[in-house]
Amino acid sequence: MKGKKSFSLWGIFISGIFLSFVFSCETKKPEEKTKTEEEIKEEIQKEVEKELSEIFGWAIMIHFDDPRTPDIEGVNINPDLSCRGCHFSKEGAPRLAEWGRSGHGGKILEVKEKDMTAAVTREVAPAFVYYNFSATDRAICQRCHTSTGFKNFAKDPVKYNPADNKFYLSGEQREMIYCWACHEAENLKPGEVAPPLRNPGRFEFTSPYTLPADRIASVPDLGSSNACVSCHSGRSSGAVIKASSRIRGHFGGFNPHYLASAGVMFRTIGYEFEGKDYTVSNPHSQISSPCVSCHMPAGSHMLEVVKKDSSGKITDIVAYDSTCSKCHVNKAQLIEKINFGKQEFEQKLKQIEELLAKKGIYYNEHAYPYFYKVSDPAQQTFQNAFTDWTSKDLLGAAFNFQLMKKEPGAYVHNPEYAKKLIEHTIEFLSK
Ligand code: HEC
Ligand code: HEC
Ligand code: HEC
Ligand code: HEC
Ligand code: HEC
Ligand code: HEC
Repeated sequence: MKGKKSFSLWGIFISGIFLSFVFSCETKKPEEKTKTEEEIKEEIQKEVEKELSEIFGWAIMIHFDDPRTPDIEGVNINPDLSCRGCHFSKEGAPRLAEWGRSGHGGKILEVKEKDMTAAVTREVAPAFVYYNFSATDRAICQRCHTSTGFKNFAKDPVKYNPADNKFYLSGEQREMIYCWACHEAENLKPGEVAPPLRNPGRFEFTSPYTLPADRIASVPDLGSSNACVSCHSGRSSGAVIKASSRIRGHFGGFNPHYLASAGVMFRTIGYEFEGKDYTVSNPHSQISSPCVSCHMPAGSHMLEVVKKDSSGKITDIVAYDSTCSKCHVNKAQLIEKINFGKQEFEQKLKQIEELLAKKGIYYNEHAYPYFYKVSDPAQQTFQNAFTDWTSKDLLGAAFNFQLMKKEPGAYVHNPEYAKKLIEHTIEFLSK
């Protein structure tokens, strides 16, 4: 039956080709006749329909997230804010595409361009996919891992209560850091390019850890970068280790968390060894709105300061003209300097990893809680986590190492401070 049917379909197909061949030979003969106005209108209409179906096909794939899967197939629409939660204005449209290529957008456009039906997975964006961050047992995570959480947090960090976070999503859906997370989309005025930015205020109010209080209080108001700082400052600190009465246990309880750039930049997070001097004057923390100035040159939402080749070597500095050139005088030299700094930073971290291994502490950057008693990755399970921290300095050394591993821009954010933390960690572990 099946064979017969396909045979007859083939027959129609082949005779169709034959007929169209004959037809085209015949219609070629008379010279090109000029199109009538009706025909031109019809052609344009067809073209528009085709364009629209492509745009709508794309729009549907970008805006639909399958509630049955934890992966992110598309963005979600918050009914309170609807489309204007992200589509602010005609002028704002290029920002959508930049955002969709950044970590805040889970690189969703890169994923979709390869395959329209593909989804953002745990591998691409663990910070959004790894857990269902909207669940009540993840309440303390919501201010950094969901748009709803950050929106509510930024309105009033002191009174913020995650119990008020109202998620409109059902099932296995995840938010990313949407436009309306950072912008007050509920206050979008007609004719405006974008609504104002949310401003959670100074680090003092937004820091998730309270020690060392004096240093935290000295972080200035950073204007539009206050938003960045409240998510990018880590969740623990060296001072927490110093204040702790119990340090034996797996590393998870002290983990600095990830991309804690502001903590490094403003010296609030590192484990500082006794008797060492850490006062540095960091030129890069004095840039006005530092995070935005370096990471969003000319308003770009890609978050990209530098361009790299496939080996990770820096080939260009995107923010040079708008920002770096205010203090640095030669772009080529700065590219060389930054590559040198990066290479040195990575080599020193490798050295620390080896020194830790010599003490029987094995690191696995992909497996929480990161430090193990055994070197074979197959056996690096929770039961084999390293717990026998014999001194605060040993735990602090591991802390500084993990902090830098998970803050790959530390050597630029606060060059001198990062160097000191690394040097003193090496010195301690070499004893
Ligand atoms: C969470 C943010 C967000 C919300 C809310 C949102 N969109 Fe989008 N939209 C996007 C992104 C990202 C793109 C991809 C932009 C690109 O490809 O340049 C997009 C693309 C589109 C496109 C394709 C045309 C284009 O500009 O590429 C249309 C049409 C569209 N959105 C309509 C809507 C409508 C209608 C709503 C409300 C029902 C809506 N969007 C809500 C983020 C959002
Ligand atoms: C609500 C929390 C939140 C806020 C606010 C926030 N970030 Fe992020 N940021 C994240 C998370 C989460 C990631 C990791 C996303 C991923 O790759 O999975 C991230 C990733 C990044 C990256 C890594 C680059 C990339 O594309 O992956 C940079 C750079 C960055 N953020 C800079 C900034 C700057 C600058 C600001 C302020 C304008 C800011 N962030 C505000 C949470 C936040
Ligand atoms: C102060 C802000 C903040 C809080 C609070 C926070 N996180 Fe994060 N978290 C981040 C940022 C920023 C990243 C981005 C790092 C990345 O993906 O590279 C991140 C990344 C992650 C990742 C991905 C790690 C990886 O391997 O890249 C996981 C998992 C995670 N967080 C879990 C949690 C959980 C669970 C909680 C609550 C108990 C939590 N976070 C609370 C800021 C925060
Ligand atoms: C992580 C926070 C963050 C997110 C998410 C974010 N923005 Fe912005 N946006 C900013 C900052 C910071 C500025 C710069 C404001 C300043 O310089 O005062 C800005 C400025 C803008 C501007 C005006 C400036 C310009 O040059 O275009 C537009 C338009 C804009 N954003 C659109 C968007 C859109 C659309 C989205 C979502 C695709 C988005 N933003 C997501 C932080 C964010
Ligand atoms: C002087 C310019 C400068 C300032 C100021 C700055 N950054 Fe960076 N940042 C960089 C550079 C350069 C890199 C890239 C390092 C690399 O990729 O090797 C980087 C890397 C990062 C990364 C890791 C990106 C990735 O792809 O993993 C994050 C996150 C980040 N910065 C966040 C911030 C935040 C938040 C602030 C404000 C507290 C900030 N940065 C201030 C220049 C700067
Ligand atoms: C407010 C002035 C200022 C701005 C803006 C600035 N820098 Fe710097 N930067 C300095 C000073 C001062 C030093 C220390 C002296 C030196 O090494 O030139 C420095 C040092 C550095 C170093 C060397 C760190 C080391 O290993 O010793 C790098 C790399 C660097 N800057 C990158 C950048 C990049 C990339 C930008 C722009 C995205 C930038 N800087 C913007 C003032 C600035």
